[in-house]
Amino acid sequence: MRVLVTGGAGFIGSHFVKRLLRAGDDVVVLDKLTYSGNRANLPPDVEFHEGDIAEAADVARAARDCAAIVNFAAETHVDRSILSAGDFGRTEFRGTQTLLEHIRETGARLVQVSTDEVYGDLEAGGSSTETDPLRPSSPYSAAKAAGDLLIPAYVRTFDVDASITRGSNTYGPNQYPEKFIPLFVTNALDGEALPLYGDGRQVRDWLFVEDHCAGVEVVLRNGKRGEIYNVGGGDEHENIHVAEQILALTGADRSLLRSVADREGHDRRYSLDTAKMHALGWKPEMRFEDGLRATVEWYREHRDWWQPIKSGEYREYYARQYAERLANATSV
Ligand code: NAD
Ligand code: TYD
Repeated sequence: MRVLVTGGAGFIGSHFVKRLLRAGDDVVVLDKLTYSGNRANLPPDVEFHEGDIAEAADVARAARDCAAIVNFAAETHVDRSILSAGDFGRTEFRGTQTLLEHIRETGARLVQVSTDEVYGDLEAGGSSTETDPLRPSSPYSAAKAAGDLLIPAYVRTFDVDASITRGSNTYGPNQYPEKFIPLFVTNALDGEALPLYGDGRQVRDWLFVEDHCAGVEVVLRNGKRGEIYNVGGGDEHENIHVAEQILALTGADRSLLRSVADREGHDRRYSLDTAKMHALGWKPEMRFEDGLRATVEWYREHRDWWQPIKSGEYREYYARQYAERLANATSV
């Protein structure tokens, strides 16, 4: 099958591209190469179009002859959405709408890659099912939810073929080092502080990147029109325990772990009910402790990938996000 992967130069999208190539699919990538997009994440010979999913001409050029589009393209970091909501609405909403208009004309299938964060905080317990209301808390998750809402509307109104996946917190090789796990791993390897927000008792449900991609592939091939599928790791951990495991795996000193001012509007817990994906034959294979060990090893062996990233624009972002927090940090 000829498949367009949008956002394919990013973390999860690039693993997905390699997965489809291994399966023998014909893959095309459309990516705007924002700060988190990296051409080096992809095999050099893959068909690559630099462009924007919110631009109809870019989509039409890249999607020519494609039977399906899998949309990973997004602004993806909650903290950046709090500092400046910037392109979040444009990419998440306008971009999704542009892809939907394209499949309306061509009849291609669309898989929209979304997130458990659209369900909002589950502090009181339980797990989110696909029919739960959307209660996003951050500009990032609100923008993702806005994009998601277009999907059933286009399916109902125009009978397009589209499905949504909602993945949980994903980790693994090639993740831009602004998210929790790659930030803490690379800082620990460099002997720099690990800035833990608030009391560190927030819970995330961790999913290894290959398991996330396997779930999206199952939905691409076997998912039903108009359906939503939760792709959750079922591996819930408090941030402080993840940070302690990273310290142990990197051999870094515990004094690096610092408690800093909490994220504004910080969700305490996410959790997904994944019965629907299990019925499609998918379940995660990687246990968190094994996946975290493999991830730490990858970052240890690939300084050439992440050290250049941690300069330039990244340092400016890092100072805006952490300078004051770290100046007022306390020990954990
Ligand atoms: P990422 O930031 O590594 O990758 C995003 C990619 O999208 C980048 O390559 C970027 O250049 C590209 N992009 C951004 N705006 C674009 C635009 N307008 N047009 C074309 N390309 C554009 O993020 P990721 O972690 O790989 O996330 C991929 C998708 O998975 C996102 O939709 C995200 O919401 C979703 N998701 C991520 C997680 C997670 O924990 N990382 C969990 C669940 C869902
Ligand atoms: P993150 O990787 O940004 O994912 P998300 O907010 O989308 O779940 O953060 C994961 C958790 O780690 C979240 O509870 C916030 C926390 N966190 C820190 O404590 N310190 C940090 O520097 C970062 C980036 C995140």
